[in-house]
Amino acid sequence: MLQNNLKKLLGIGYPIIQGGMAHISTGVFAAAVSEAGALGTIATASRDDVYVREQIAAARKLTKRPFSVNIVLTNPYCKEIIDVVLNEGVSTVITGAGSPAPYMKDFLSNGCKVIPVVPHVRAAVKMEDLGAAAVVAEGGESGGHVGSVSTMVLVAMAADAVRIPVIAAGGIADGKGFMAAMALGATGVQMGTAFLATKECPIHPAYKERLLAAKETDSVVTGSGTKDPVRCIRNKLTDNYFEMARTQVPLDELMKPLTGSLLRAVAGDMETGSLQAGQIAGMLREIKTVRETIEDVMNGAEQALERLKKLDL
Ligand SMILES: Cc1cc2nc3c(=O)[nH]c(=O)nc-3n(C[C@H](O)[C@H](O)[C@H](O)COP(=O)(O)O)c2cc1C
Repeated sequence: MLQNNLKKLLGIGYPIIQGGMAHISTGVFAAAVSEAGALGTIATASRDDVYVREQIAAARKLTKRPFSVNIVLTNPYCKEIIDVVLNEGVSTVITGAGSPAPYMKDFLSNGCKVIPVVPHVRAAVKMEDLGAAAVVAEGGESGGHVGSVSTMVLVAMAADAVRIPVIAAGGIADGKGFMAAMALGATGVQMGTAFLATKECPIHPAYKERLLAAKETDSVVTGSGTKDPVRCIRNKLTDNYFEMARTQVPLDELMKPLTGSLLRAVAGDMETGSLQAGQIAGMLREIKTVRETIEDVMNGAEQALERLKKLDL
């Protein structure tokens, strides 16, 4: 049997990562995921180093298991956050929105594993060359800020292009999706949307209800063609956005209602909030615990494998 080196690499029980989710995946939430055997991730988005230190402390009160910190490299507090992460001895960082190249030496000399999120194969190769421990290949069906290449294409091609572990993200919320990612060459998955529909997730109940009601066709991308494409569930905010885009209002006017819109959704504003979620929201039918979410994926993966073995191909 092939050894799953990702579990060993990250010190986790299941090859599942909870993706960092801005303003949502706090230290408490990440700790719940890590306690359930996957890798929890603290989001830091545009927050400062004081916030990050507090969140790491909150996680450590609740778990002795590993968790990661997601660092958005465009955050003006990025350098200070990295100092906190290294001082605190966090074992893994998941980076996004750019290249971690300027900080790689510091990360590696402190024994911190770096897992960049990549939207295309070229970036995966570059990150391997820089010394990344693994890459998250995130397809365009993901929730939040997205690239344009689908998970199906990206994971298969990235897995051929690099020797470090490839973690598939985008459109995975059950065992079938997990097993499909393994077939494409991934050794683990990162999920975001599936973790939104959990009891422990600190978003407003109305946001969770909307996720359960969503069909796969309710997923739209605001800001495509700009540097800020974001996948979310259709609502008044997005209807207005597309109407304004159709009438070709200036870009700053078009993008203005989107500013701070995830925070509004998290607080329960279903009209002017951005209900960030992936296409796979269409699959979500019930609010589960974090543990149930993880275990259902792993049990479903076994069933998917059994089915594959019976197929006469
Ligand atoms: C509400 C929301 C917020 C997100 N915020 C971040 C973030 O701050 N940093 C990041 O690297 N990825 C972010 N993501 C992406 C997730 O970490 C993950 O890669 C993605 O959700 C996987 O695709 P899925 O939603 O289909 O499971 C976010 C996703 C969602 C749904």
